[in-house]
Amino acid sequence: MSTSNPNNSPGDSRKKITTLSLRRKKENGQPISMLTAYDYPTALALDQAEIDVILVGDSLGMVVLGYANTLPVTMEDMLHHCKAVARGARFALLVGDMPFMSYQASVAEAVRNAGRFLQEAGMDAVKLEGGRERLEAIRAITSAGIPVMGHLGLTPQSVHQFGGFKPQGRDAAAARRIYEDALLLQEAGCFSLVLESVPAQLAEYISRKLEIPTIGIGAGPGCDGQVLVTHDLLGLFERFTPKFVKKYAALYGEILAAVEDYRQEVEKRTFPAPEHTIEMSVAVWEEFLHEQNQSKG
Ligand code: KIV
Repeated sequence: MSTSNPNNSPGDSRKKITTLSLRRKKENGQPISMLTAYDYPTALALDQAEIDVILVGDSLGMVVLGYANTLPVTMEDMLHHCKAVARGARFALLVGDMPFMSYQASVAEAVRNAGRFLQEAGMDAVKLEGGRERLEAIRAITSAGIPVMGHLGLTPQSVHQFGGFKPQGRDAAAARRIYEDALLLQEAGCFSLVLESVPAQLAEYISRKLEIPTIGIGAGPGCDGQVLVTHDLLGLFERFTPKFVKKYAALYGEILAAVEDYRQEVEKRTFPAPEHTIEMSVAVWEEFLHEQNQSKG
């Protein structure tokens, strides 16, 4: 249920992506593409590029709001950005990321907050982090008719518990725990699962064992789909780039060069040029000056 977008023509034959479409893609062996967006123009571009899933991730906190991690992001931050994305995307499945402490304190709060993503912000589904400790919340949210995407492995909201942004599931016990959690999340009703920063063999094993699609980030090619943070893919966020990111563009450098050109042209008075300037006819201008002189006299 994304809000309608006047920028897509009504005759467009594309169909809205749903949780069922993703399931079908997995069954047919078709990879799922997912990217993050936090604003209207990015959502428009991702939707036009036929990305299957747009995640309004709480990575927003790091790549847009400048925080050191995702923990300070609030429900109000998320809803504000989700609304902008919903205005830009018409076909992609829209997933809103539940921020830290919006679903951990109580199940009732988790359901109420999840509902706000659909009711107020035009999202189609929510994502939340964690395994066995989140089953009650996931069951309650899905019982309310809200599709839930799970997230296992490096779950950034637990960065302090992990002692940093470190790969997870690298010994047999940790791998077993992630695998068991994946099965539990599927059983609790998740329609899909993000696997972040886990060994490729483990992600592929989990993807084969689950009926629901897995979406990998730093989890190798064996997942049913892939996700990246769009600011990483575009080379727009320079502060820190995880090993698993592929930069498809270098926009930070392009922005810097463009802004420097602008500053220099302003300083040299070569911008604005005549083609950027609004002119008035000589007659009208003289009439204006005449009026001014008369009002002085
Ligand atoms: O917040 C986010 O962008 C995410 C993705 C990295 C999966 O959770």
